[in-house]
Amino acid sequence: MRFSFFRKRSVLFAIFIQLSFVRCESIQSFLEANVKSNGNETTLPQIQGSQEKRDRYELIGREFMIATDHPLASQAGVEIWKKGGNVVDVFAAASFAISVLRPHSTGLFGGGFAIVYLPKKGKWAYDFRERSPKKGTSSYYTNPDGSPNTDKILKGVYSVGVPGNVQGILKIQKQHGKLSLVDVMAPAMRYAKNGYAVYADLANAVAKVWPNMNPEMKKVFGIDNRPIREGELLIQNDLFQTLERITENEEKEWVEGETTKLVSLFYQNFDGFIRDEDWKEYQVRETEPLITNLWGYQMMTMPPPSSGVHLVTMMQLVTEMAKRKSFPTGLVGETIQITEAMRVSYRDRSVFGGDPKFTEVPVSKLTSQSYIQEEVSEIEKKVVSGNWKPISNPAQPKDSYNTTHISVMDKEGNAVSSTQSINGIFGAVQMVPGTGLVLNNTMDDFSIAPGVPNLYGLVGSKANAIMPGKTPLSSMSPTILTEANGMTKLVIGAPGGSQIPTSIFNVLYHYLVQKRNLYESVSFPRIHHQFLPDTLFLDPELKGYFPETELPFYQVQYGRHRAKVFVVSKEGDKLIGVSDPKGEGVPLGF
Ligand code: DON
Repeated sequence: MRFSFFRKRSVLFAIFIQLSFVRCESIQSFLEANVKSNGNETTLPQIQGSQEKRDRYELIGREFMIATDHPLASQAGVEIWKKGGNVVDVFAAASFAISVLRPHSTGLFGGGFAIVYLPKKGKWAYDFRERSPKKGTSSYYTNPDGSPNTDKILKGVYSVGVPGNVQGILKIQKQHGKLSLVDVMAPAMRYAKNGYAVYADLANAVAKVWPNMNPEMKKVFGIDNRPIREGELLIQNDLFQTLERITENEEKEWVEGETTKLVSLFYQNFDGFIRDEDWKEYQVRETEPLITNLWGYQMMTMPPPSSGVHLVTMMQLVTEMAKRKSFPTGLVGETIQITEAMRVSYRDRSVFGGDPKFTEVPVSKLTSQSYIQEEVSEIEKKVVSGNWKPISNPAQPKDSYNTTHISVMDKEGNAVSSTQSINGIFGAVQMVPGTGLVLNNTMDDFSIAPGVPNLYGLVGSKANAIMPGKTPLSSMSPTILTEANGMTKLVIGAPGGSQIPTSIFNVLYHYLVQKRNLYESVSFPRIHHQFLPDTLFLDPELKGYFPETELPFYQVQYGRHRAKVFVVSKEGDKLIGVSDPKGEGVPLGF
């Protein structure tokens, strides 16, 4: 059996009940020592896996299902579906709605990716991510002494890329939607105009960045010059008017409308960093999804500048390792294999990742069988020798919960998977007067200089260097899986910065390889490694199973995996939706 290695899991869990606290010379001797011990069988703990949670975060329907990170965004999807919309109308409605409902995570001044699969029509990958303004060059972010100015690229008006969310959503909806734009934007406009109660996650985000907000932003997110609090009503009038202008002028509003004029005017005080020509040159890119066969399904994911390709490499490496007899087995063995697959994939990302219009990303090589075999042989040598130590690298990813994902599927298998973002919490923490638009800080996704980590601790090479008009490398990896007959199996994606590809890996691994149910797979403790920092991040529940002493060859850090997964899966005639229990959203459908 292809995955028999993994199926030995339950027996091997027992081994770790009695793990010794002795530092071992090598992995092999460590494993041999532990393979001898016997204990009662157990299962790993679930995180947030209670029935009460499950009742909220999992839903089963048969006709249509949407999973998002806000109940009202999912509700917007249901409303549009009931009005006669298709999955693309639903995606558009939920996208505009979530821009209003999670202004700390995404917004009209952000960017994103979408995979659209309509079994009777085709499959598409859309890149409507931010691009560097014409003025965006690395010299902009260099201090007089030649060192990189990491603050300037991360915060404030120069950390902003030319946004693509509006152009992207409009284009996709125009190509494949059924309803009018007025219809699909109606829920978002209502939420902006009538307001909604601020929830804890939003209130915390406002409080956190309050001191850095410009006065315009404080007017919207404050009451009596203090941060708006949980439970208070947030009305976004200027944003409502921007949305209204979009319904009237459609994409023109985003090229030469009042909105873009207001943005260019705002930037006149800042060196004209974003100018009229940036709006005119912005193009949504429409391309083919990256397709591979993995774990029993055909997988379509987003090609570069997304990190879909590195997710594919990661899955292929683990598959190849499972075929070889020499690798350590058991829970620790499994963790080593997954960690090493993650390490190699993120190493590739740091070397090759970038905008394919500006740099060659060797996608075919990185997913070829010969490459996978070579890399696995290298891992094998290293693991079997047991002689390695973590590279010391103190840069740690900073805490950042934002970005968003929308997964939609109907009973015919029509599906959309879309991740959208303004990058950090409230992006650049600046609002353009009169627009209600929160500026992104996506320039930080470029590599400011080789080896200098960004907000997520990620490093890059020249391939991801800043250039005018270029798209920064992204971790966002919206993905759709289909059966051999073309029927959609699963729609998945996540926010979570550098942890996006590993969150999708963890969930697919538990669901498709370990055969856990979908909710357990989403809520199961995760592991993460991103090459640099050379640290193995484990969810805290794993501490009892993997005390640092049991993984002496890694620098282990326990902490909650940041990414929130939103997924819809088809099992027989059922559509199962799960919104990550770490988040605020719910799946909705019937
Ligand atoms: O595109 C990227 O990789 C980042 N801008 C995504 C940011 C993100 O997911 C933040 N969430 N925690």
